[in-house]
Amino acid sequence: MKIALACDHGGFRLKNDIAGFFKESGIAYSDLGTFSEDPVDYPDIALKVAEAVQSGDFNQGVLCCGTGIGMAIAANKAPGIRAAQCHDTFSARAAREHNDANILTMGERVIGCGLARDIVKVWLEAEFQGGRHATRVNKISLIEQKYYGGSR
Ligand code: RB5
Repeated sequence: MKIALACDHGGFRLKNDIAGFFKESGIAYSDLGTFSEDPVDYPDIALKVAEAVQSGDFNQGVLCCGTGIGMAIAANKAPGIRAAQCHDTFSARAAREHNDANILTMGERVIGCGLARDIVKVWLEAEFQGGRHATRVNKISLIEQKYYGGSR
């Protein structure tokens, strides 16, 4: 399991805290930036992590911005990406078990680091349940094929 972790300026401190959590927990990750609080555009960062996950080099992605919203919207434009904004552990578990979400997004201006760590932990422990959920996730791929002509 290897995680691609990144943020914009709005999620910089949250990203650094999650990097600390990964280090303390022995979870393999790469920090893809940004590396200061200088303003950057969240779609550029979201694309970087989306492509890292698409490539297969990373199993999952975690994206932090001010709200978690822009990152989710942008990442979800990449075929094969199912990004979920989760600010509670119930949603984090469901996003993995039901939606096979492969990118977690969170907002530093919305939740604190303690809750964010719990969300990441639950996210990483939960597994996609397949079955009826796989049928539905496959239908998401069909939407991608309809509009983009292909997906992973
Ligand atoms: C940056 O100010 C902010 O717009 C960004 O971090 C994010 O919240 C966008 O969705």
